[in-house]
Amino acid sequence: MIRLGVNIDHVATLRQARYRNHAAPTSPEPDPLVAARICMAAGAHSLTVHLREDRRHIQDDDVHRIAREFRDRLNLEMAATPAMVDFALRLRPSEVCLVPENRAEVTTEGGLDAAGQEKTLQPVVQKLREAGILVSLFIDPDARQVTASAALQAPVIELHTGKFADATQAMRPTELKRLLQASSQAHQLKLQVNAGHGLRLSNLPELLKVPNLHTLNIGHSLVSHALTVGFDRSVRDFLEAIAGK
Ligand code: PXP
Repeated sequence: MIRLGVNIDHVATLRQARYRNHAAPTSPEPDPLVAARICMAAGAHSLTVHLREDRRHIQDDDVHRIAREFRDRLNLEMAATPAMVDFALRLRPSEVCLVPENRAEVTTEGGLDAAGQEKTLQPVVQKLREAGILVSLFIDPDARQVTASAALQAPVIELHTGKFADATQAMRPTELKRLLQASSQAHQLKLQVNAGHGLRLSNLPELLKVPNLHTLNIGHSLVSHALTVGFDRSVRDFLEAIAGK
């Protein structure tokens, strides 16, 4: 059974759109923790929050409050910086996904260069692993990156599905093939394979052709769908799609 991880950053995006400059708002809404509770009650398997350096959506306090209730099912997405490593070691979420971060980007645009940054990433992966945190590397579906992730002894990779999601109909088979090959290679190297970015109800059936998928992390589309049908229904709709129903 493929698992659903819900990325709830965009609940905080909506709150920050109104309250970013309020020093101490009395009841800032919407609250990502409230959404998190509904998602988990609806059957989501894990939660993802990306604490970005610019704190554009999720805030430190959100992460702490969510961790208090869901630490054992919390995937903290973060850049591999000393400040974030300290944060993660204090928080002790069940999982950390290392992602590249660029202030100018709207969202995480590309995968981590695990192959080019082995020296920087190696001590980060090691520290997090020693703390008992499951470490995942968000990488493009590229053989070099998969090989480097295994060399870094990261037990999990998350394949960036953005190019697949954005591909024209003509390019879809090519992008799907890249994901298929990367997943098979990672599986042979005994890595857990997650995937995420740009996944929607409409492209999930095709993505499910990729073998060995463990968890799909989905944010923007699930939160968008929730705006019309509610979080409970949205999570159930994505769970059904993931189950191939
Ligand atoms: N996985 C990772 C590592 C991400 O950075 C993101 C975007 O924050 C997602 C999954 C979710 O992507 P989307 O919001 O497009 O579903």
